[in-house]
Amino acid sequence: MDKLLIRGGRSLQGQVDISGAKNAALPELCAALLTADPVELHNVPRLQDVSTMLKLIRNMGVAVQQGDDGCVRIDASGLSTPEAPYELVKTMRASVLALGPLLARFGEATVSLPGGCAIGSRPVDQHIKGLQAMGAEIVVEHGYIIARLPQGRTRLQGARITTDMVTVTGTENLLMAATLAEGETVLENAAQEPEVTDLVEMLIAMGAQIEGQGTSRIRIQGVDRLHGGTHTVVADRIEAGTFLCAVAATGGEALLRHARADHLDAVIEKLRDAGVQVEAAQGGLRVRSPGGAQLRAQGFRTTEYPGFPTDMQAQFMALNTVAQGTATVTETIFENRYMHVNELLRLGARIQVDGRVAVTEGAARLSGATVMATDLRASASLVIAGLVAEGETVVDRIYHLDRGYDCMEAKLRGLGADIERIR
Ligand code: EPZ
Repeated sequence: MDKLLIRGGRSLQGQVDISGAKNAALPELCAALLTADPVELHNVPRLQDVSTMLKLIRNMGVAVQQGDDGCVRIDASGLSTPEAPYELVKTMRASVLALGPLLARFGEATVSLPGGCAIGSRPVDQHIKGLQAMGAEIVVEHGYIIARLPQGRTRLQGARITTDMVTVTGTENLLMAATLAEGETVLENAAQEPEVTDLVEMLIAMGAQIEGQGTSRIRIQGVDRLHGGTHTVVADRIEAGTFLCAVAATGGEALLRHARADHLDAVIEKLRDAGVQVEAAQGGLRVRSPGGAQLRAQGFRTTEYPGFPTDMQAQFMALNTVAQGTATVTETIFENRYMHVNELLRLGARIQVDGRVAVTEGAARLSGATVMATDLRASASLVIAGLVAEGETVVDRIYHLDRGYDCMEAKLRGLGADIERIR
């Protein structure tokens, strides 16, 4: 089990390339299942979750070529097994994104129910409800979602669907299924995340008829078939936000190449309120900070896009623990997304959690210790804290980090951090 060894106290300087977005690449790999023509995806990040998704679609009989230049070529003409087995789905919940495309193209799909994970139970009832509204017959048994079209039907039917809550992958599953349905589908209460918009842009390049992406109402006119195409994965706003928080906490100055300011408004606003300088520059984001101890801690509530992203909550909390003042954080999306708190306490942070609310006492002098990663963004939070803590911090179980960050320690070393991976 790999670990990261971090010697804290160094400021970060220089420039770093932000990779393609994990949460765009994963649905976009599934979108390639909607056509028998070849599809090329560029700027695909090198992540454990991407490798798992490629294994999953190869398992279905799909031909996949992955270059080391971030280009993935997918040919789903030979897809023979519209299934996503438990062994793969249990390691990555996003496998459920195969459900909509398989059902739309083949009229059947057998996808393991994704288990919960550290941050919550993560049900997929909205995905199922929406597909049933489009005419699918779905039973859930033995831990599998078994979906098929009714006898005599060859296509899903367009429908007007209002999800009970905003769901990112729910929106993505339903809009992918709707591209090949008969007639119009309207998704109300749709997710507005930039990764949803990026997926829609790829689908339109493949011949889909979609409008309203980036708003809460997405309209899809079904077409008979989709053709192949090429798409470049949008830059990862959460990776960019993570590096913004790292430089903010350690102090220094960096250029985050390819990062998009318009995808991080809520986070950038909070960083500016804290006393960090962030501005668009040279096709990316330039960040300057005097260091955590000179900043003012900022409270926030996580909400759906364009609000403060839940995927940035843990990282910003690490910053708050060393900044001046008390800050109150409310996590409204997931029921158990404070797993990083107990580990931050081991580093000397002062945090109190009461249900969905966490209050940090700032200006803590963090001291290095051995801590354990529990989920993807919690791991990033511990790395940020380790970069500031005095002495050595060892972050254990960093396979969580490898799921969603492309060579994080190499990128941080490139900015001057004293960090290495211990096998
Ligand atoms: C996506 O997860 C992201 N993953 C998550 O990123 C992100 O935290 C989350 O959206 C919220 O932004 C991918 O895109 C692959 P949801 P998703 O459906 O789609 C409830 C990361 O760190 N819900 O928007 O699974 C759910 O329990 C990961 O990169 C239902 O009740 O999240 C949650 O409380 C973590 N029933 C809320 O809705 C459903 O059918 C939002 O979940 C679906 C969701």
